[in-house]
This record gives sequence, structure tokens and C-alpha cells, in this order.
Amino acid sequence: MLDIAFAKPALPKSGALALLIHEGEKPSGLWAQLDEATGGAIARAFDVAEFTGAKGKTCTILAPGANLTRVLAVGLGKPADLAQKILEEAGGAVVSNLSRETAVTVTNSSLTAQQAAEVALGAVLRSYRFDRYRTKEKAEDKPKLSRMTVLTSENSKAKAAWEPLDATAKGVFLTRDLVSEPPNVLDPPEMADRCRKLSELGLKVEILGPKEMGKLGFGALLGVSQGSVKEPRMVIMHWNGASGAGKKPRDKPVVFVGKGVTFDTGGISIKPAGGMEDMKWDMAGAGTVIGLMAALAGRKAKVDAIGLVGLVENMPSGNAQRPGDVVTSYSGQTIEVINTDAEGRLVLADVLWYAQQKYDPKFMVDLATLTGAIIIGLGHEYGGLFSNDDELSQKLTAAGQATGERLWRMPLDEAYDKQIRSDIADMKNVGGRPGGSITAAQFIQRFVNGKPWAHLDIAGMAWSTKDTAVTPKGATAFGVRLLDRLVADNYES
Ligand code: BES
Ligand code: MN
Ligand code: ZN
Repeated sequence: MLDIAFAKPALPKSGALALLIHEGEKPSGLWAQLDEATGGAIARAFDVAEFTGAKGKTCTILAPGANLTRVLAVGLGKPADLAQKILEEAGGAVVSNLSRETAVTVTNSSLTAQQAAEVALGAVLRSYRFDRYRTKEKAEDKPKLSRMTVLTSENSKAKAAWEPLDATAKGVFLTRDLVSEPPNVLDPPEMADRCRKLSELGLKVEILGPKEMGKLGFGALLGVSQGSVKEPRMVIMHWNGASGAGKKPRDKPVVFVGKGVTFDTGGISIKPAGGMEDMKWDMAGAGTVIGLMAALAGRKAKVDAIGLVGLVENMPSGNAQRPGDVVTSYSGQTIEVINTDAEGRLVLADVLWYAQQKYDPKFMVDLATLTGAIIIGLGHEYGGLFSNDDELSQKLTAAGQATGERLWRMPLDEAYDKQIRSDIADMKNVGGRPGGSITAAQFIQRFVNGKPWAHLDIAGMAWSTKDTAVTPKGATAFGVRLLDRLVADNYES
């Protein structure tokens, strides 16, 4: 992880310097000092590059003098429009533009402690790499940047402001690691083992195997798993940050549930070969819940939260579930499995029923890479939000705006529910192509027992094929920051 420090404003004696500059800002402070120390090189370069501080624009000056290797200017746009997102993106731009430097100092005329920490957050998030399996990468191809010092006159307050953001970033990294892992390595037992390690952060972790789930009657989840030689797991992670470990809770817990299909071939309703490798990240909902729980514990959030993940592999085999099978879910409701590739909802059905039966949640939020249809509807810009609760929806939408992990609310309606009626069982697991993400949500709603609930379909958001300001291409960990913020803004005592 990129090493972060905060210090009082002073020109660095070596290395690279990043200047964060507002549109129309006049040189002052360190910027003016630097311009003088370099004989006006900064002003001349800005002039040639027509750099004005416009949002998102950058200008790099190589070997400007004053013993510096590079100066990078990053535009923040108009001061009145400054927001957390812009500061994070500026931090991200420093990392993506200065990866060949080893150390960088970041300055601006007036960063508060909180703002300095937000720049650091963007930088750290952008610096993520998953390079476990690269054994031949040449040193000159690897990013060298290992230390960033953000200058602010409130440097000791900035350190305190950074602590919770640091914990959140570590949660994001954990999720990105899990989602990036290949499916031969990260199978359900391995994923459960990685959850167990979270007890180091003070979480209580329970793991259920096929025997325990069989006894409970998890017919829907186990039906999906039965074609695979890998055993399924359900993991329950408890963070008692409001009541204290081992004490009686004062308030109902908030509950998060994740779809963890460590590989989705489609089963007997098998998927086409092209792009099937993407289905290694069909456990992103679970990965997000795990990273979220690590973030909450890491920053000692004053909340009682429970994270549950259903972990299975969906494979075709002589023992696999067939189209036409009828399974009995833990709720007692029967399901006709028309398409074995609509497996995520079957996994969630049992885990959600268990969550609401066992924990009497204040609310439940589930996350799942559930449908290709949500990508058709919302693309890769918004996650789909489905909920039976307007207040929870509004809070989730606000947390999405605040973190940049945005959600768009989709409808739920009895009229869609009709599409999943079965002729021989209580319901079928697919409702046809029209409104495919909505009928999937209607299916899940049948297992929430009227409790306040939201379902986030993150199929379009969990993986990115291109670098963005604070997220390198690959696993995004979409949802970790969003739900961490939901808790921080609304549910901490
Ligand atoms: N895991 C997939 C959904 C998915 C598709 C996630 C693309 C990420 C990218 C899910 O299990 C699935 O296969 N859904 C089917 C449902 C259909 C059979 C009703 C789909 O979307 O095609
Ligand atoms: Mn599927
Ligand atoms: Zn799936």
C-alpha cells in the first residue's frame, strides 16, 4: 500500500512535487516560491501548456530545477465547486501521472485536514495493483511510487482524519483482492478461510458447511452447489461496535448479505465460452460484504453489523441440478428451477431467509452480480437499487452520491411478480427477458419476509475494463465505500 504522511507546508528538497491548483488561482505560497526557485519555469510551462487549473487537467514539467525531478500540476476547477470527489480524483491523478517517481509531495494553498486526507484516499485507491501472479514483470515496468506526503498546516489533525479513510481503503483492497483472485484459487472453502482471518480485526466469524446447511434445509443454495466438487460455505461475520463484543445489543443490527458464486459456468444451462472467465467475479457481492465488514471493524464503527455471504460454485456435472428440478428453500417455499444460470437468486433466497429469521435486522442490504439485464439498463455508471423501503432507498442514494458509487432506483411491483409464477411450484427462478433485473429482484423479495430491505444489482459495476480516476481497471470493490458511508452517516450511535 502507498505510504501516506502529512506535513507542514515546505518545499521538498528532492523528488517530485504535485501542485493542486484552482482555476484562475494566482501563484502564492509554495507555488510562488517554487516558481522563483526555478527562475519562472513553472509559469512558462503553464503558459505553453495553456494550463489554467481547469478541473481534471494536468501539466507535467520535467526537471524544472530546484533539485526536483518533476512538477505535476493538477487542476481542481472552480473553488466554489470543490468537493470530496474532486480531491480524491486529484490524488488519483498524482498516482497515475507520477508512477515512475519514488516519492511525491502534494501541496495546495489551503488544504484542511479533512481535504488532505481525501487527497490521500484518492491516491491510495488509485495505487491498487493485483500482481500476485506476475513473476516476470521487469522492475522498470512496475510503479515505483511508494510514499506520498500531503502538505497541510493542520498536519496532525490530518493524521487523525486519515485513520478511518485508511481503514476504508484497506477494506476496498481486501475486496479487490478477493474479486481479482482466479477461481481455481478462490473457491468457497478458501473464501471462507479468508473471512476467518478477519477475526484479527475483532470480528466474530462463524462458518457453516454443507452438513449444517443441509440440516437447516438450505435446498435452494445446496441445489446450485451440488454440481461442483467444491463444498459450499455460508459465512457470518459479526461486528459489535455499538454494544461491545459479547454484550447484549441495545439496538437491532444492520445486516449485509452477499452473493458469492466463486465461478458461474451457468451449470447445465451453460454459458457460451466467450467471456466466461469474467464469471470468476460472480462472487463480488460477497467480496464487497467482506471488505465492508473489514472497513467497519478497521475504523471501529459504532454500529452492530452482521455480514452474511453464501459461497458456492455453479458447475455442470453428472450430479448437477437440472432445468425442471424443484427445490425446497429454507423458507419452505418451493422453486421450479427453469434455468440453472439464474443461480444467484437461489443462493440469496436461503441466506436472506436465515438472516431475517435469526437476527431481526434493522434492515438488510444484499449485493449481487445478479443479472446481465442490469448492464443493458444502467450500463457501467449506476448500480441498480431495488427496495421495499423509501427511507432506506433515499439514504442509499445519498451515500452513493457522496462516494461516487452511484445507485439508481428501479421499480418493484406485483405486476412483475406474476412473471415468476410456476405451474407446479410456488415460483420459478426466471421470469423471461422483459424486466429481467426486476423479476430477479421480485424473486428475492419473496425471501425477505416484509423486513426493510434493499437489493443492489452490481453486475455492471463490480469490474471495470478501463482505468478511472480512483480505480485501476479490474475489480472495483463497488459498494464498500457506499455502504461504509451509509453506516457512518446514519447508523452510528
Ligand atoms: N452472474 C450472472 C449475471 C452476470 C452477467 C453478472 C454478466 C455479471 C456479468 C447471473 O448468474 C446470470 O447468469 N444471470 C442470467 C439470468 C438469466 C438466466 C435469467 C443472465 O443475466 O443472463
Ligand atoms: Mn448465472
Ligand atoms: Zn451468477
